[in-house]
Amino acid sequence: MQKSWSKQEITGILSCRDPHLLDELLEAADRCRRDSVGTNVYLRGLIEFSNECRRNCYYCGIRKGNRSISRYRLAAGEIVSLAMSALDAGYSSLALQSGESDDPREINEVVQFVQAIKTQSQARDNTGNGLGITLSIGELTYDQYKKLWEAGAHRYLLRIEASDPRLFSQIHPPGQSYKKRLQCLNDLKTIGYQVGTGIMVGLPGQSVNNLVRDLQFFVDKDIDMLGMGPYIPHPNTPLYKKQVPDFEPFSMTLKIIALARLMMPDINIVCSTALQTLNPQGLELGLKAGANVVMPVLTPEDNRGDYTLYDNKNYTRPQELIERIKESGYTVGLWTWGDSRHYAVRNAQLE
Ligand code: 5AD
Repeated sequence: MQKSWSKQEITGILSCRDPHLLDELLEAADRCRRDSVGTNVYLRGLIEFSNECRRNCYYCGIRKGNRSISRYRLAAGEIVSLAMSALDAGYSSLALQSGESDDPREINEVVQFVQAIKTQSQARDNTGNGLGITLSIGELTYDQYKKLWEAGAHRYLLRIEASDPRLFSQIHPPGQSYKKRLQCLNDLKTIGYQVGTGIMVGLPGQSVNNLVRDLQFFVDKDIDMLGMGPYIPHPNTPLYKKQVPDFEPFSMTLKIIALARLMMPDINIVCSTALQTLNPQGLELGLKAGANVVMPVLTPEDNRGDYTLYDNKNYTRPQELIERIKESGYTVGLWTWGDSRHYAVRNAQLE
């Protein structure tokens, strides 16, 4: 039987600074992941296809107001050909990510290249399944999400960033509403996507209580996937130099991942690049804490340096990531999409 977690218990774990407790928590999370989702770590070849963004999130380095990066948008043909090379290299799934656009022509273009990736990869791959596609391109309308779903995308990541509406409003400009973000998450679920969300850990103004609430939010929303990372200040953003909480964001993120695994044993959890950026052991410790998805960056080298959500973003070659996953005692889930088990379970319950 799955254990239910009280608010006090979670608060106690998050507030405790004893390193032995962190070790024990990681051990428990690792046992849980082996029992519930096994040792497989699934890969999502990450293509950051555009850093153009209409938003001005106070924490993000690709915010519209940052004039010190060059903006790029890969041509559809280039994205499709990167996707085909990913398939040939053995990736079964892609994550397509970009800054936020509200230009209907650009969204239409995404619909077109998702469709092209889907049909071309199905024709190319001997299983006929083609590539699994996760999108992470922000807040769109219901109809746009629906078109992208019909084009063949079947997972969507949209972080809530902070589940407390007050904290959300402190890190976003007034035009961005918490309500709209929730509406998008609901729309994605209604359409049938596997839905992923997440937060940043260590934001200015964030408390342990906020983090407890975030974990409860993920459970209440019955999410399928989780992507969380430490907040890393970026010099060209308004939050830079704002006072951060007095907890250490790296180990706090590990605790949150571990608790998320224990509270939601069958979801997919990403070991974020931000976690790998803050600590050279970020990959290994993130996996130990229960993460079972890694997103090797396939963005062309010329553009990679301009997709700077935060400072000093880590880049590890995909092959090295794969070797390190194996050396940590896990298996790489090849030739399978590696969908969220939770999604299958919740759909079976609906039938
Ligand atoms: N530090 C860490 N993560 C960040 N993101 C954006 N800016 C930062 C930052 N400064 C994360 C957000 C967003 C995801 C794509 O990147 O959570 O949802």
